[in-house]
Amino acid sequence: LAKKPAKGSALGFEGIAPTPANVDAVKVPEGFAWAPIISWGDPLFADTPAFDFDNQTPEAQREQAGYNCDYVQFHLGGAGNNGAHKGLLAFNNEYTNDELMFRGISSSDDLTDEQLEIIMAAHGITITEVARRNASSAWRWVQGGKRNRRLHTDSPFAVTGPAAGSAHLRTKADPRGERILGTLNNCAGGETPWGTYLSGEENFNQYFDATGAPDPDGKLKRYGITSSGRGWERVQDRFSVTKEPNEVNRFGWVVEVDPEDPTSTPVKHTSLGRFKHEGATIALTADGRAAAYMGDDERFDYIYKFISKAKYVEGDKKHNMTLLTEGDLYVAKLTGDGAADGEYDGTGQWLPLVVDGRSKVPGMSVEEVLVWTRIAADKVGPTKMDRPEDVQPSPVTGKIYAAMTNNTRRTAAQIDEANPRANNKHGHVTEFTEDGGDHGSLTFTWKIVLVAGDPNDPQTYFDGYDKSEVSPISCPDNVAFDGAGNLWIATDGMPGTLGWCDALYAMPVEGEDSGALRQFLSVPVGAETCGPTILGPDSVIVAVQHPGEVDGASPDNVVSQFPYRGDGQPRPSVIHAYRRHGR
Ligand code: FEO
Ligand code: CA
Ligand code: CA
Ligand code: CA
Repeated sequence: LAKKPAKGSALGFEGIAPTPANVDAVKVPEGFAWAPIISWGDPLFADTPAFDFDNQTPEAQREQAGYNCDYVQFHLGGAGNNGAHKGLLAFNNEYTNDELMFRGISSSDDLTDEQLEIIMAAHGITITEVARRNASSAWRWVQGGKRNRRLHTDSPFAVTGPAAGSAHLRTKADPRGERILGTLNNCAGGETPWGTYLSGEENFNQYFDATGAPDPDGKLKRYGITSSGRGWERVQDRFSVTKEPNEVNRFGWVVEVDPEDPTSTPVKHTSLGRFKHEGATIALTADGRAAAYMGDDERFDYIYKFISKAKYVEGDKKHNMTLLTEGDLYVAKLTGDGAADGEYDGTGQWLPLVVDGRSKVPGMSVEEVLVWTRIAADKVGPTKMDRPEDVQPSPVTGKIYAAMTNNTRRTAAQIDEANPRANNKHGHVTEFTEDGGDHGSLTFTWKIVLVAGDPNDPQTYFDGYDKSEVSPISCPDNVAFDGAGNLWIATDGMPGTLGWCDALYAMPVEGEDSGALRQFLSVPVGAETCGPTILGPDSVIVAVQHPGEVDGASPDNVVSQFPYRGDGQPRPSVIHAYRRHGR
């Protein structure tokens, strides 16, 4: 029986209608405004040159905001004080649209060596101080902020965990296998309880050219490492797998950065395994260990959980920053309880891959399990999911929510209760409840709370809510919570599936309003909504990624001019949507 819609919205805003896919505008609810906080190319340091589209240099880009913002983390307060109008913003720069960064580019063959260096410098992570005039104005980046920092393809990272220093990570430039230059394809992420920044290295395969490289046991193939198409091997030999076979093993990790300390060395944690990490989010177990939940974004790949050996110590950041260096790694198996109950739900187990420093996978060492985690997981029988993206624990209930974005390759013969649709164009969101409410548990129950699509499609499901009252949604990707425990969902791919711009939604997941999905915002033509950070019911930060990413678009044939500064070019930007006061 459908639930009755509650009077008004429990979410504090009136939902907006879907925006047609060709509209080059940011749409927000009535009473809200939006403004860019920082855009690609904005200068971070006092002496950094201003962005100049036609005169870009690698040196400038290494000190300017990177391209294609994704996960966003926000810390309120100034360095050393609690300024209510100061803050710190850190965000991933996942990849670049080379054809939109420069004129006259139709393939990577057209890129000069200098342009390739600019592209490499535009990848990574951007950290900047932000400020606002007062409590009702928008946040804006601060050029020259003390904590400002850029991490890019040539920035050094330390390596932790059992695979640090392993033979699989050693290269000519780093014979000890413990210092890696760069972080690549940083997609989603998470904030740790100790205030650091976690970031997932996702589709790192695209930067490596493996043409002619031997692959006797299919390790390169399992990670999609073929030929790059990006041309990076032309300027740095390490991106050629034949010239430097182990460099590719140094990407695909979870990265941890202390954004408050610009002199700190960022790290790659091998204990959390190597795959196409969407991101990692932390919850504490009943006995105080850190559990990290992680998706591997590939069709038919898996959801993982890491549990630290050591316990969290409140207030001891130095100790807590060692938690992800040692612990146990598991992969999820979901078992359905049948269709008779009218719900897609069931029980599950966390299957061990590494426990107490020992491999649980026959024929593979701990180092091998961590470097080729996908191959290890294949051997223990986890559930093949429909592209597991972002995973987020609710701060109110402790339940875990994971977005399965889509999987159009799943056939009718391959459906199961956890991935119940063949040709799954629209994706779904699954809720996990750890047994005993303990993130240290190795068993759980699960339930699909959203089967996405047009609500008129009888296959869709909005946690039992009246479907005449909800927004259409497709391809859930990033998930986040507000302080009240409402789930926020950003999409990636709606123009291709439902014909509307990608968008941001909020959906209660508890009580009589659960499933009442409403649209909060939509992004411009060609763009994807990423990194939602919900500061409060009146204040939301969103990363607008790849505006203008449309076949055939170029700087001379622009389809998006977001963020509309009059310079004619689309620039990926982190924006602030906030309620206008006094109206
Ligand atoms: Fe970069 Fe899986 O989205
Ligand atoms: Ca069932
Ligand atoms: Ca994503
Ligand atoms: Ca995505």
